[in-house]
Amino acid sequence: TKPTILVTGGAGYIGSHAVLALRDAGYGVVVIDNLVTGFDWAVPADVPLVRGDIADQPLVEATLRDHDITAIMHFAGSVVVPESVENPLKYYHNNSAKTRDLIESAVRTGVKHFIFSSTAATYGTPDVEKVREDTPQRPINPYGMSKLMTEYMLRDVAAAHPMNFCALRYFNVAGADPQGRTGQSTAGATHLIKVAVEAALGKRAGVSIFGTDFATPDGTGVRDYIHVTDLAAAHLLALEALIADPARSHLLNCGYGRGFSVLEVLDAVDRATNNPVQRTMAPRRAGDPAALISDNSAILATFPWQPAHADLDQIVAHALAWERKLGDRA
Ligand code: UFG
Repeated sequence: TKPTILVTGGAGYIGSHAVLALRDAGYGVVVIDNLVTGFDWAVPADVPLVRGDIADQPLVEATLRDHDITAIMHFAGSVVVPESVENPLKYYHNNSAKTRDLIESAVRTGVKHFIFSSTAATYGTPDVEKVREDTPQRPINPYGMSKLMTEYMLRDVAAAHPMNFCALRYFNVAGADPQGRTGQSTAGATHLIKVAVEAALGKRAGVSIFGTDFATPDGTGVRDYIHVTDLAAAHLLALEALIADPARSHLLNCGYGRGFSVLEVLDAVDRATNNPVQRTMAPRRAGDPAALISDNSAILATFPWQPAHADLDQIVAHALAWERKLGDRA
């Protein structure tokens, strides 16, 4: 039988997709989530949900022991870049300090593998067209720095203790479970595709385009949008790789290696509904790079990862389907 995995933040957006992927693949799954931004209904009824904090070491260590946890997938954290600029200590607390305590609990209880949600924000404003894993990491906001600190912690802990890790540096995650079982439910979301599908369904007035004078083909920001289900699949492959070779850890970009501009995303949303979303030109947001696109050759060479949803229209269609289903729930 397959091992049991603890998913932190499993009631949240990406975590809830990972829970489904693990369960679909026959792993045991336990979720820990404080439900500050997640929802208990996002966790399947047959998956135990421990309601609590990742830094509550007695609770976490009891959970790790009681369920004989082999690996942790760590999604819990704060994710809004502008908020991290306003409130850096929240990010160093939630993302760095609490993760330090979680890693300590993992080491104490003999957890063997740790999979971490890192981010392309650790690269800051790269001076290359496609970011490689060895492109210098120079975060330009506390969010990116708080995640980079965790990469450093994991590297050092894996060298000192019998634990290996995989840090996946996500590019722009979007879309929803193709079967409609979960999606992005975050209240007050700021991410482009989420905001645009909310506008398309009349949940908000329109979309502000943050910057139209970037050095990009149409002047708007370019990002590497990746379907959340392909990202969840990458986590399963990471888990298998960590189990297969406990001596090896990984730091890998997770993107498709191509970019779309804000205008291209909004055009895709308009196509999906046949009803144009209202667009407003707005100034650039603090700390936004012009373009952020992955070089994904390392993950493709390391894992048998075969993205199944690398299509902007599909990403938008799934985000829209979930947004409809969500209705006024969140
Ligand atoms: N944008 C708009 N209007 C909006 C929202 C976003 O024009 O209402 C633009 C942004 O300026 C940017 C692009 O759309 O050019 C994408 O912005 P998002 O807010 O959706 O995402 P970010 O690229 O800022 O950041 C996201 C995650 C980070 C992660 C990063 C990695 O929030 O956690 O992707 O690429 F690190």
